Amino acid sequence: MNNSRVLMTAVGSYLPANIVSNEDLSSFVDTDDVWIRRRTGIAQRHIVAEDETTADLAQHAAKKALTNAGLSGGDIDLIVVATTTPDNTFPSTATKLQHAIGAKRAIAFDVQAVCAGFVYALDIAEAMIQSGRGRRALVVGAESFSKLLDWEDRSTCVLFGDGAGAVVLELAENYNDWGILSSVLHSDGAFRDILYVDGGPSSNSLVGHVRMEGKEVFRHAVEKLAAVMDEALAAAQMDATQIDWLVPHQANIRIIDAMQKKMGMASDRVVRTVEQHANTSAASIPLALAVAVDDGRIKNGDVVAMEAIGGGLVWGAALVRFGKPY
Ligand code: UT7
Repeated sequence: MNNSRVLMTAVGSYLPANIVSNEDLSSFVDTDDVWIRRRTGIAQRHIVAEDETTADLAQHAAKKALTNAGLSGGDIDLIVVATTTPDNTFPSTATKLQHAIGAKRAIAFDVQAVCAGFVYALDIAEAMIQSGRGRRALVVGAESFSKLLDWEDRSTCVLFGDGAGAVVLELAENYNDWGILSSVLHSDGAFRDILYVDGGPSSNSLVGHVRMEGKEVFRHAVEKLAAVMDEALAAAQMDATQIDWLVPHQANIRIIDAMQKKMGMASDRVVRTVEQHANTSAASIPLALAVAVDDGRIKNGDVVAMEAIGGGLVWGAALVRFGKPY
């Protein structure tokens, strides 16, 4: 039997300095603070500066995670960056990050699963570590999602923000109930038309803007996230009472509250950052995780449940006992 476990030993995050409030948005698009707060829970979002890129955000978050783990770039064997907003079509944001942190021997590549990108990247990194491709990985969610927004479309432009979060994964032997306890992913391209960006390199047009049928996505989110969380719990042979913290994708406070109720969790066991960060796509889970670790809520050894859904549709959930037993 395989006694190896992939631990999540540290987290780091970064938000661009520029904050845009709901009031700020209402000065140029037909919206208002009351609508945005009531329908989404969002009060503000961080937006990248003109000369700031996704790789910059990723670099800040990754460096913090490495410092918190007591490691440097040279210790890392694998870098997986989840992003939908890479600096360029190629090279990958991960290779830029690799160079910036001096992770010379690492394998580095990007994963594109939009808002579910972090749970996808986590699953891939765990599988690669378990298959012997290295002992230590950086898994990063980083987005400059503001670059994909149509600032005249009030139904989407108020929802998103920019930022990055990173975690360090490390292989350990003989700690069976630590680290990544289970991970479940799903995809269904039949729903590709309810959330997408128009345009792109092979569509004979420049990258366009986010288009979304909000109500449809909302419906799928509540249904699919609840189901995939049940699967992740079953795979770990656990029940919801054993979860210390729910760290969900931060798209809409109403989706987060619905998940909390479906899982029967106490409200104060759910990490909510959507009010300050808005929806930062692949960055939202590691950003929220970093907030709750930094403020002392999530402690070494706590069981954390994560779930996310994004355009594709793609969705997934993971259960992790955070930190390290040694
Ligand atoms: O991260 C990927 C996953 N994404 C999600 O999970 C997003 C899921 N969807 C949602 O969060 C919600 O569907 C939205 C927040 C996007 C929209 O909320 P809703 O309650 O579904 O509103 P709606 O789209 O049905 O719009 C209701 C009304 C409409 O007006 P009428 O037609 O009723 O007169 C919209 O035009 O609200 C109007 N509206 C706005 N009003 C003020 C839409 N956007 C705005 C706005 N400000 N920004």
